[in-house]
Amino acid sequence: MKRICIIGISGKLGQYMAEHALSLGYEVNGVCRPESVHKLARFGDRITLFPGRTDSRPTIARAVQGCDGVLTVLAPWGVDNYASGTASAVLDSAAPDARLIFSCGWHITRDGKDRYPFKLKALVVVFGALARLFRAVDIKDQIRATDMIFASDRLWTVVRGSDLEEGESEGLPVWSRHVGDPVLVSNLTRRTDFALFMVHALTDDRLIHEAPAIVSRASASAKRHSAQAGSVPA
Ligand SMILES: NC(=O)c1ccc[n+]([C@@H]2O[C@H](COP(=O)([O-])OP(=O)(O)OC[C@H]3O[C@@H](n4cnc5c(N)ncnc54)[C@H](OP(=O)(O)O)[C@@H]3O)[C@@H](O)[C@H]2O)c1
Repeated sequence: MKRICIIGISGKLGQYMAEHALSLGYEVNGVCRPESVHKLARFGDRITLFPGRTDSRPTIARAVQGCDGVLTVLAPWGVDNYASGTASAVLDSAAPDARLIFSCGWHITRDGKDRYPFKLKALVVVFGALARLFRAVDIKDQIRATDMIFASDRLWTVVRGSDLEEGESEGLPVWSRHVGDPVLVSNLTRRTDFALFMVHALTDDRLIHEAPAIVSRASASAKRHSAQAGSVPA
């Protein structure tokens, strides 16, 4: 694994992923909207930028060329299939043996066996309806995007983030297959550690064709139940 591409590199998660990837010695390409290029000024020529929308197939095709791995921020913005357009551009353009890591939240389910707290279910229904009403966000399109990934035979991993907070790293999060598993109950991860897990997934073969739901390894539930988690050494 030498060169990777970060799709959505100018957001909070994208910038953390860029920092982690550079510190591990990867060469980093990135795609972000032209109006967001300025957010990446501090990286200078340490990254190679391909300005464009993340669902632009020509932009994605250029950016992922020669990359061994692609980290994609799946964001359900607008109501014109942004997330599913982004996912399909990545699935169709990346090299056949590239590792493809996608981000989303716990609300995405792979097999329907997740058991959600009432608060999260209510939030998704209310927020989803309001956001769609104002044409700001289309959660159903993020679901379409991940269903497309789950059905693909590419080397994918879909990392499902818990609630996020800012702050210093607490180390690589632990993970489990289903929301509702005791290890995940604390439902909190530092955003920098979400990014750390995304970058880690590039080289952890145990995560191929998995949709790990993650939580901070320093959280109470992780400490209590770490023996059951798909944990990795700190
Ligand atoms: N926020 C949470 O609490 C949370 C919890 C769990 C999982 N997640 C997952 O984490 C990932 C990133 O979440 P985040 O909250 O940390 O956000 P983020 O990193 O700031 O990422 C937002 C991304 O969306 C882009 N974006 C923003 N507005 C846009 C628009 N109107 N049209 C097109 N693109 C737009 C941003 O690009 P620009 O730089 O160009 O604006 C950026 O690439 C997502 O996959 C999300 O599902 C988030």
